[in-house]
Amino acid sequence: MANKNLNAAKNAKKDEFYTQLIDIENELRHYKHHFKGKTVLCNCDDPRVSNFFHYFSYNFEQLGLKKLITTCYKNQNRDLFSQNDSERAIWLEYFGDKNNNRVPDPEEIGIHYFQGDGDFRSQECIELLKEADIVVTNPPFSLFREYVAQLMKYEKKFVIVGHQNAIHYKEIFPMIKENRLWLGYGFKGGAGHFFSRYEDTATAGDHREGMIRVSGVNWFTNLEIPKRHEDMILYKTYNSEEYPKYDNFDAIECCPTANIPIDYEGLMGVPVTFLDKYNPDQFDIVGILNHGCDSEYDLAKPILNGKEKFSRILIRRRQTGKVKAYEQPEMELPMAAEKPEPYNPSV
Ligand SMILES: C[S@@+](CC[C@H](N)C(=O)[O-])C[C@H]1O[C@@H](n2cnc3c(N)ncnc32)[C@H](O)[C@@H]1O
Repeated sequence: MANKNLNAAKNAKKDEFYTQLIDIENELRHYKHHFKGKTVLCNCDDPRVSNFFHYFSYNFEQLGLKKLITTCYKNQNRDLFSQNDSERAIWLEYFGDKNNNRVPDPEEIGIHYFQGDGDFRSQECIELLKEADIVVTNPPFSLFREYVAQLMKYEKKFVIVGHQNAIHYKEIFPMIKENRLWLGYGFKGGAGHFFSRYEDTATAGDHREGMIRVSGVNWFTNLEIPKRHEDMILYKTYNSEEYPKYDNFDAIECCPTANIPIDYEGLMGVPVTFLDKYNPDQFDIVGILNHGCDSEYDLAKPILNGKEKFSRILIRRRQTGKVKAYEQPEMELPMAAEKPEPYNPSV
């Protein structure tokens, strides 16, 4: 049901939904060391409502940032959630707290006007992109391909929100396969609540006032994170009954990901959620079974016993030695931290 929100948003190019501060904090706490001495660009962010601007301006000193740049796209449609009602698009730069009150005061924030509308693809935005070391934002999902292509073209580091459907895009999957792009830590339960005025179709239990729930959202990054080097703990062993081969391709079906056999040397088809656990030291991504024609890496349709399955990532064990066996942890799990109130920019 919740994905209807995303599809509806995509079809209508409704890109106005805003990330919660808590979700930004939960992800970026894993990247803190990357930001020291760096210029950060948030280039799809109206600073009046963007929690990315809030996060980086309030944590400027703690992260040891050099500079924060935020560009705001002037949206012509005034009915949308953003109040992009100024005549020209603006961009802001912030060099940190000058009066030692630990707050980004208006007089400390440089406001500049664009000639154009602040489209991330415009030349004036590209000039700011060139200045940046790391780009962090939730870009418009409808322009995700172009957005990532531009980051790659200018060889930028980034942490951005996207939808897991993007993994299948012919422009995106090759980057994942070639280890130029990977998934971050992600949203709790694989779904995010975003501030928005779009109609929410979440079930009553999942509904939050003033928000839409979108399932399948994730963080995409090319910054190193510890998670990416943690071995998946495997405990099952291969047998041909439990792991049948596809009708049309020489690989075994392994679903769910946790069932990957510890001892199989050939190709294995796993659901795309595998990428949440992917460690390039443990497995190679060989390709994808999707339509069989999307890109050079889309090798076939995943057909099993005459039925087409959901798309599968094709992997192969990388380690030549024995894959780490499962050991019962001895320590007790810590209590979950108390959940802070989400920051609501519209209040
Ligand atoms: C999903 S929203 C996220 C907003 C903000 N980054 C956040 O997370 O709260 C995407 C934003 O990109 C803006 N946008 C849409 N097209 C754009 C473009 N071509 N260039 C720059 N920004 C654009 C939209 O106005 C919208 O505010």
